[in-house]
Amino acid sequence: MSLFNLAVLISGSGTNLQAVIDAVEGGIIPNARLVPVISDREGVFGLERAKKHNIDNMVINKNDTALLHNTLKSYNTDGIVLAGYLSILPPEIISTYDGKIINIHPALLPDFGGKGFYEIKVHQAVLASGEKVSGATAHLVDNGIDTGPVLVRGTVPVLPDDTAESLQKRVLEKEHIVLVRAVKALADGEVDSLKKNPLTLQ
Ligand code: GRF
Repeated sequence: MSLFNLAVLISGSGTNLQAVIDAVEGGIIPNARLVPVISDREGVFGLERAKKHNIDNMVINKNDTALLHNTLKSYNTDGIVLAGYLSILPPEIISTYDGKIINIHPALLPDFGGKGFYEIKVHQAVLASGEKVSGATAHLVDNGIDTGPVLVRGTVPVLPDDTAESLQKRVLEKEHIVLVRAVKALADGEVDSLKKNPLTLQ
């Protein structure tokens, strides 16, 4: 069985990327090959993580759709993981890889998602809402923002003395678990069954 070629798109520290790298190298996701790692900006630590694991990596401007499309094609990309990727994918890329693009969001979608809900802003909104539970959601990417079918979600408690930062840290750890499970499903061809019965991890 040929390996599932997974491109990983990042914009920052790459802790989600690292979780997927560890899962592939550790045999949890045996059917995937991670290449390339593409950042939309220079100098992010996620690129260092790729280098350390000898994974081809490059910076591609979010507006350079042709370069992004040709780069993915040149690596025979089968699927794409948005691991803390902060740019919006061009519609041409979404249609080319329809049903094969996974995003990780640091909240329980459909709540606290959509335009403006990213990074610390998500957790500030959760705290302001008084919700006692938050978490992370891995979903398929469609042409909306954080609106595609949910595949896996994981919950975390919101504690009375939480700050946005302490909640972000707790959610980020859950993101790693949720993303790895969703990426495994993508590489193993299980996405359709997860779409019908999304997983909730405690
Ligand atoms: C984090 O805020 C995470 O919630 C979101 O992207 C940001 C950076 O994640 N998914 P990473 O450490 O770069 O994976």
